[in-house]
Amino acid sequence: MATFHHILFLTTLQVFCNIIQVYSSGPVYKPPPVERLTDRFSRLSFNQSYNVFFGGRNVHVTNNGTGADISLDKYSGSGLASKNKYYYGFFNAAIKLPDGFTSGIVVAYYLSNADVFPHNHDEIDIELLGHEKRRDWVLQTNIYGNGSVSTGREEKFYLWFDPTQDFHDYSILWNNHHIVFLVDNVPVREVIHSNAISSAYPSKPMSVYVTIWDGSKWATHGGKYPVNYKFAPFVASMGGIEMEGCILNQKDMAPSCSRSPYSLDPVDGEQFAKLSSQQITGLEWARRKHMFYSYCQDKSRYKVLPAECNAKQ
Ligand SMILES: *[C@@H]1O[C@H](CO)[C@@H](O)[C@H](O)[C@H]1NC(C)=O
Ligand SMILES: *[C@@H]1O[C@H](CO)[C@@H](O)[C@H](O)[C@H]1NC(C)=O
Ligand SMILES: *[C@@H]1O[C@H](CO)[C@@H](O)[C@H](O)[C@H]1NC(C)=O
Repeated sequence: MATFHHILFLTTLQVFCNIIQVYSSGPVYKPPPVERLTDRFSRLSFNQSYNVFFGGRNVHVTNNGTGADISLDKYSGSGLASKNKYYYGFFNAAIKLPDGFTSGIVVAYYLSNADVFPHNHDEIDIELLGHEKRRDWVLQTNIYGNGSVSTGREEKFYLWFDPTQDFHDYSILWNNHHIVFLVDNVPVREVIHSNAISSAYPSKPMSVYVTIWDGSKWATHGGKYPVNYKFAPFVASMGGIEMEGCILNQKDMAPSCSRSPYSLDPVDGEQFAKLSSQQITGLEWARRKHMFYSYCQDKSRYKVLPAECNAKQ
């Protein structure tokens, strides 16, 4: 009985703490200072970097060619695909998400080679999932390596800002050492290229995609909260385009990396091989305060957790 009351007390305390956190602009919403990786790379124009992937009618180039609006209406979503394929690199998009009722909407920023390797493709995903009932947008990250699609490696986070009011940077660093997902330069997830994950580590050239689509069936408990087209069109604005890495030479299909010795090198550069102590502080903050799901803790889904889960901790 004492234990029961004790738990009840702690639970109540936790609820109060959560309420206080939500209504104050306390430490939950202020990330520790991190270096701004996105400032180290030059920004590309839309025409230099992307082609329309689908739904061209719903793609509009903006800001003097430095960005694009992609939208979803009842006829179609839309998407962009990079002109080049990359074998490792640093990739960024600044995105402003649609506001209002956005249940069922998915805005995805990802790398994939499913077009070239339909049976053993690689993928690195940042997926922004629209409101589920009245909840905020949620950030989901995932990876697939060499067709490892039967093992979902999702992690989910609440954001520490309103992603519909301004542009925020969503970045992926991918090289032979690790994959790092960053939000406004704060690392939220690091996947180390360890032996434990080696066969599922994305290791073939990929294209970069930005898409908006109807994820009613997929994202909201099997269509429980579908997209409501009364509120369409849903527009995601994108800018801040950075793609810096080893570009695949389409002719011989061999990665050709023409990088000047003076340029920053996210592929082989020493400073991109591991996180700085400042970045580790940011990573720990993001995960402790804002992560609410990790496949590595999902014992109802995985009786035996994927090997890298145990290797990490
Ligand atoms: C628009 O882009 C062009 C070409 O990149 C550039 O020369 C021009 O200065 C830009 N205009 C403004 C107002 O930024
Ligand atoms: C981008 O390309 C499109 C079509 O190829 C062209 O119509 C447009 O003028 C270009 N915009 C800029 C800013 O270069
Ligand atoms: C990737 O999959 C292909 C085809 O299933 C297989 O031949 C290859 O050995 C795999 N590569 C790695 C690194 O596991």
